[in-house]
Amino acid sequence: MINGSKIILRDKTLADALDDYTWQTDPELARLDAVPPLNTVFPQYLSGYASKLHYSPQTRHSFAIETLDGKHIGNCVYFGIDERKGEAELGIMIGNRDYWDKGYGANTVTTLVNYIFRQTNLKRIYLKTLESNSRAQKCFQKCDFTPYKHLVRDGFSFVFMELHRTQWQEQQTET
Ligand SMILES: CC(C)(COP(=O)(O)OP(=O)(O)OC[C@H]1O[C@@H](n2cnc3c(N)ncnc32)[C@H](O)[C@@H]1OP(=O)(O)O)[C@@H](O)C(=O)NCCC(=O)NCCS
Repeated sequence: MINGSKIILRDKTLADALDDYTWQTDPELARLDAVPPLNTVFPQYLSGYASKLHYSPQTRHSFAIETLDGKHIGNCVYFGIDERKGEAELGIMIGNRDYWDKGYGANTVTTLVNYIFRQTNLKRIYLKTLESNSRAQKCFQKCDFTPYKHLVRDGFSFVFMELHRTQWQEQQTET
């Protein structure tokens, strides 16, 4: 369990499956993530979900995001862990709209970044979001991520943002 000031990050469990299914089949959430909405029935989703929980690769760590009073509001992950390059990609989704624009995203990102830089030797964390997703970019800026690359892939325009350990360390000494 990883504690933030507004959220906790905990391991995923089978009890998260229905929330995750609801969010992955939501057309707006899928559009914001530049993926098609999931198109499988829940029982089929559930059987794949159970096996993924048990066989998660070493290069990927997923967490459920909970409010301090225990409500599951989304998920976050760091993945594509490359020990040689010293970097990993971060992903986040607050699926529950009631919790948008209230600082839960920023607190999640900061909490996960602190965890990664304190518990691993990684030197750089990066992420990508759609150019059109101003909310996400604002959230990541608040967490000291800066844009470094723009890329069009499959007709979608993405901005890549990064945070280096050195920048993070500077922020730690300032605060
Ligand atoms: C993107 C996401 C993680 C951000 O989390 P969040 O809790 O909503 O973000 P925060 O409240 O920490 O920060 C959002 C900021 O963007 C601002 N904002 C909201 N809409 C905006 C817009 N259209 N243009 C500019 N800024 C905007 C908010 O006011 C807030 O800034 P403030 O704290 O200065 O007021 C979350 O909203 C989410 O998961 N959304 C749905 C899925 C999604 O976008 N997926 C792609 C993620 S890469």
